Amino acid sequence: MYQSAIILAAGKGKRMKSKLPKVLHKVCGKEMVNQVIDTIKKCDIEDVNLIIGNGAEEVEKATKDRNITYSIQEEQLGTGHALKCSRNFLEGKVGVVAVFTGDAPLITESTIRKFIHYHIDNGFKATILTSLVDDPTGYGRIIRNENGEVEKIVEHKDCTLEELKVNEINSGMYCFEIKELLENLDKLNNNNSQKEYYLTDIIEILKSMGYRVGAINVDEEEVKGINSRVQLAEAEEIMKLRVNNIHMENGVTIIDPKNTYIGIDVQIGSDTVIYPGNILEGKTIIKEGCTLYANSRIKDSIIEDGVTVQNSVILESKIGKNTTVGPFAYIRPESNIGESVRIGDFVEVKKSTIGNNTKVSHLTYIGDAEIGKDCNFGCGTVIVNYDGKNKYKTIIGDNSFIGCNVNLVSPIEIESNTYIAAGSTITKKVPSGALAVARAKQSNKENWVKIKGLNKE
Ligand code: UD1
Ligand code: CA
Repeated sequence: MYQSAIILAAGKGKRMKSKLPKVLHKVCGKEMVNQVIDTIKKCDIEDVNLIIGNGAEEVEKATKDRNITYSIQEEQLGTGHALKCSRNFLEGKVGVVAVFTGDAPLITESTIRKFIHYHIDNGFKATILTSLVDDPTGYGRIIRNENGEVEKIVEHKDCTLEELKVNEINSGMYCFEIKELLENLDKLNNNNSQKEYYLTDIIEILKSMGYRVGAINVDEEEVKGINSRVQLAEAEEIMKLRVNNIHMENGVTIIDPKNTYIGIDVQIGSDTVIYPGNILEGKTIIKEGCTLYANSRIKDSIIEDGVTVQNSVILESKIGKNTTVGPFAYIRPESNIGESVRIGDFVEVKKSTIGNNTKVSHLTYIGDAEIGKDCNFGCGTVIVNYDGKNKYKTIIGDNSFIGCNVNLVSPIEIESNTYIAAGSTITKKVPSGALAVARAKQSNKENWVKIKGLNKE
């Protein structure tokens, strides 16, 4: 049967007290709405419509690479009104539409699949995803008749004292038969305490038409709606442990899962060991047998097998096999570091390539450079890539030895098999096989201390 999905994401999210639309707040590094879209797409539902209104431009921009369509809700008159705004999307379609909210990111693929099957198998016109919770405050309540059949949903603010005691809550996620939904959507009104068009009222309307309506119960964790920063942190905690558990099941050692922050789309190979305080973000791939000692941030980078990283920041870069990075190194975007390289303490690399086995052990800046293999950088080398106006390139051939405290003024080429004397400021090309010395000659003034009368003995 044809399946489509709608995500409600036009609300402001007042309780977040934020300039950012609520659905763009992130859980484990991914916007809540994108989390919902990605989970729906994993269920092989391709036809997804997002209802936007508040911060529509921002929400559209943040979701634009996900191949979805949009409906605009100009004024936020309630969840029922929001769904009406997707009429153009639904018109002419048959089959099931599953409805989600952009502020409930913890729903899983297996639950969505189970939910849709349950709806279809039972021939319901509408099915509600519900949960039994200890504290139903704020949620709509599922009201059942004496036979246990769903009768209606009543919003918290509209509940009688009896209804307030019901602890089966509406998740805000539903399956509808598109035909019956479209036929009855216009019957919604705003005669309630919040003067809003509630989507929840559609249940009672469909019942009154004699249609069968069902509900399926799932774990509270999956339907958690995020309305405040406190709930956002709770969702983060749940998602973090879920993500970490998957990696551990795949053979990754995570020493302290509560203090390890791995983005939803990060991939990690087996036998990698991760110490506390690591933050792995974006599309990062960590391959097998790596050791990430405490407190690094790695974003959108590829880390090959056997790499060791300690207390460092690596952004949008690639690190080759068995290389060690840190402690306290900073690898900036577009860097490509080879195999068995050593990037030591207080080394900054920006937009540079470094060949295999090269050692940059301490206190060095490498920017806009192409460096060969088997080179050695002394302590305190600076590539002077910027003249205050433009950035220039530096090329260093294989097997070069750069002494301590050297400035390489770009644009410059140091050919292979060269030595640069410590303390040199190099401004001219160094040919292969040469030693370059570019510093003032030393002169000793004999007995100078005594002559000046500065002797302390
Ligand atoms: C809603 C349900 C409630 C359910 C709860 C689950 C209604 C009337 N109530 O309440 O039964 O228990 O979700 O979390 O549906 N939105 C729009 N346009 C609007 C209003 C809301 O797009 O005009 C979107 C919001 O962006 C949000 C979602 O709909 O993603 C839910 O809205 P929200 O205001 O959070 O509803 P709740 O009060 O939580
Ligand atoms: Ca909500």
